[in-house]
Amino acid sequence: KRLVVLVSGSGTNLQALLDEIAATGTEAYGAEVVAVGADREGIEGLARAERVGIPTFVCRVKDHGTREEWDTALAEAVSAHEPDLVVSAGFMKIVGKEFLARFGGRFVNTHPALLPSFPGAHGVRDALAYGARVTGCTVHFVDDGVDTGPIIAQGVVEVRDEDDESALHERIKEVERRLLVDVVGRLARNGYRIEGRKVVIQ
Ligand code: GRF
Repeated sequence: KRLVVLVSGSGTNLQALLDEIAATGTEAYGAEVVAVGADREGIEGLARAERVGIPTFVCRVKDHGTREEWDTALAEAVSAHEPDLVVSAGFMKIVGKEFLARFGGRFVNTHPALLPSFPGAHGVRDALAYGARVTGCTVHFVDDGVDTGPIIAQGVVEVRDEDDESALHERIKEVERRLLVDVVGRLARNGYRIEGRKVVIQ
C-alpha cells in the first residue's frame, strides 16, 4: 500500500513509520511512504523524508487566494502520488470538502488526547489545564469535523503532578508513535470497513 504522510513540525511520528518500514521491510509491513507533504517550508518533518530520498511537497495556505483553492491544491498534490492511505501525523491544518471528497475514508489522523476529550490544536495543554489524571492519544479517520471522525485505536497515558505541557506531550508521543505504526500497518495489511462510528479491521 502507498502512504502519503502530512506533517507540520518535527515529524517524529513520520520517523517512527519510516523506521518501522525500514526494519520490517515494505512487504512485511504492508505499506511504504511514497511522499511527505507539509503546509510550511523548512520543518524537520520534511528533512526526515529528504534524508531518505522520499519526494516532498509544500502547500502553503498563503500561496492561494482562498482556503478552498488551498484545499484543492493540497488534494491535487496528494493525488499525484496515488496514495492508498493518507496519514496526518502532526499536520496542523483542517482539510476541506474537496480533500475529503477524494480521501475521506482513507485519511487517518493522530491526536494527542483521548477523543472526544480535548479536540483541537492544544489537546495536551487542555488536558493538563483541566486536571485530567489520564490522557493519551487517538488514531481516527478524518471526517468533516475537527478530530471527530471514527476512532480506530487509543492509548492511555497517566498525567504526573510535575508534568508541564512538553513533558506530558513527550510521554504521549512515545505511546502515539507505537499506536500509529501499529494501526497504519494493520489497515494496510488487513483492509478495513467503517460502519458508522465503528472501524472494523479485517
Ligand atoms: C503529535 O503529538 C500529534 O498528535 C500532534 O502534534 C504532534 C506532532 O508530533 N498533532 P511530530 O511532528 O510527529 O513529532
